[in-house]
Amino acid sequence: MIFDTHAHYNSKQYEEDRDQVLRGLKDAGVEKVVNIAAEWDSLEATVKLTEEYPFVYGTVGIHPDHVEELDPGKLEIIRQMSRKDKILAIGEIGLDYHWMVSSKDMQKEWFIRQLELAKEENLPVVIHSRDAARDTFEIMRDVHAGSTQGVIHCYSGSVEMAREYVKLGYYLGIGGVVTFKNSKVLKRVVEEIPLSHLVLETDCPYLSPVPYRGKRNSSDRLTYVAAAIASLKGCDREDVERITWENAHRLYGLAL
Ligand code: NI
Repeated sequence: MIFDTHAHYNSKQYEEDRDQVLRGLKDAGVEKVVNIAAEWDSLEATVKLTEEYPFVYGTVGIHPDHVEELDPGKLEIIRQMSRKDKILAIGEIGLDYHWMVSSKDMQKEWFIRQLELAKEENLPVVIHSRDAARDTFEIMRDVHAGSTQGVIHCYSGSVEMAREYVKLGYYLGIGGVVTFKNSKVLKRVVEEIPLSHLVLETDCPYLSPVPYRGKRNSSDRLTYVAAAIASLKGCDREDVERITWENAHRLYGLAL
């Protein structure tokens, strides 16, 4: 059984065939999916998906590229939405120094405020970090560690930092990138970090694994990610699917 911990099925890339894609997942062994909000409009879209599909859960939160859309009133709306039954976490939130849509200070401020909201609501967090490894880690350590669960989505940092995150109790999200030929550091991370701290994620429609690299992604392709992890770990793909399935339940506070 496969648990996709990070998907964006509200994306317009599924406009034509969303229902068909989602209904096809069960046959491919995908039993649970968490749809991750990123910009303001995706909050309501995510809630709708969780209402429409029994196996789809959701998160609410604003991605660092979109924090300009936030204000204190909207943060309170996010708080209210986060109390819905199938909303499991606050995310994706974090820092993105690659696109730098907003200043570092503004990104940090809203990152911290959303982490505090997660603590207050006793919800896990889904973390986005791009070209901002050190700042993200320090904020997680100083503001959030020891409170609720969390996942560093699409982990792209060093082995050393991965170990530090694991020490603080966080999970690392592993997706299609691990199948890419040039992903040497991530492959080492997967070799070094115990399977008990990894979860599977697509980030679909993005980051399709080989042999579909560059094409629109979907959760059924996680079998390729699980196979890549299994070959790095020297175990069976089924073991990877089972253990990451259990981890994802612990991360999101779902009963097994
Ligand atoms: Ni994402």
